[in-house]
Amino acid sequence: MSEQQAETNLEAAMYSSRAMRRLKPTAVPEPMLIKLIDAANQAPSGSNAQLTRWIVVRDPEQKKKLAALNRLHGEPHIAADVARPKTDKLKRLLDAVVWQMEHLHEVPALIVACYDYEVVVDGMDVYRKAGSVWPGVQNLLLMARSLGLGAAPTTLALRDQGMVREALSLPPTFAALCLIPVGFPQGRFGPVTRHPVEDIMRFDRWSD
Ligand SMILES: Cc1cc2nc3c(=O)[nH]c(=O)nc-3n(C[C@H](O)[C@H](O)[C@H](O)COP(=O)(O)O)c2cc1C
Repeated sequence: MSEQQAETNLEAAMYSSRAMRRLKPTAVPEPMLIKLIDAANQAPSGSNAQLTRWIVVRDPEQKKKLAALNRLHGEPHIAADVARPKTDKLKRLLDAVVWQMEHLHEVPALIVACYDYEVVVDGMDVYRKAGSVWPGVQNLLLMARSLGLGAAPTTLALRDQGMVREALSLPPTFAALCLIPVGFPQGRFGPVTRHPVEDIMRFDRWSD
């Protein structure tokens, strides 16, 4: 691939990496899953510490445990909005979130991004070094897009670190920061919708 082609592909992926929640149950070939994690592993981390760890959950019983945690924490979080969505756009988003809640255990791979703090952490300390995990998550999402796989970053299932540690046999020094369900998409990729750049940037200092 020429540098020009790589740039075009990367730009196209950035502008069309929507959160794909409705996924087919079809298995994702293992080399593709490894490629996702290898791409994630190329991302930067603070002091180049490289302490992000990845669990690719394919076992049906393990997936059920994560699906149960997602429902446990997710249902109360979205209940009020599901009952009375304020906009059509929010309703569409919530329909997809509910679909994901009901089908999470059928998604072929649930990828969990963890950070190894090397000491036991809890509470807000869990989020202290979270910044070192997210560049890898974004690399993974872009590689998924480039391979034609659907994916979306999620956090609802991970609200109780003790429960996630137990479900995935994580060492006590690990925190799980992002769960990314991955599979072949049921729908089509399309452009993301974001605020126009002129609304969200200023040069030199903030002004209205
Ligand atoms: C930090 C973070 C946490 C998120 N947590 C969840 C989640 O728990 N469940 C979920 O369905 N989506 C979650 N998302 C996905 C966002 O809802 C999604 O990226 C956003 O709505 C934009 O969607 P779009 O790319 O399809 O436009 C999360 C995204 C981020 C960045």
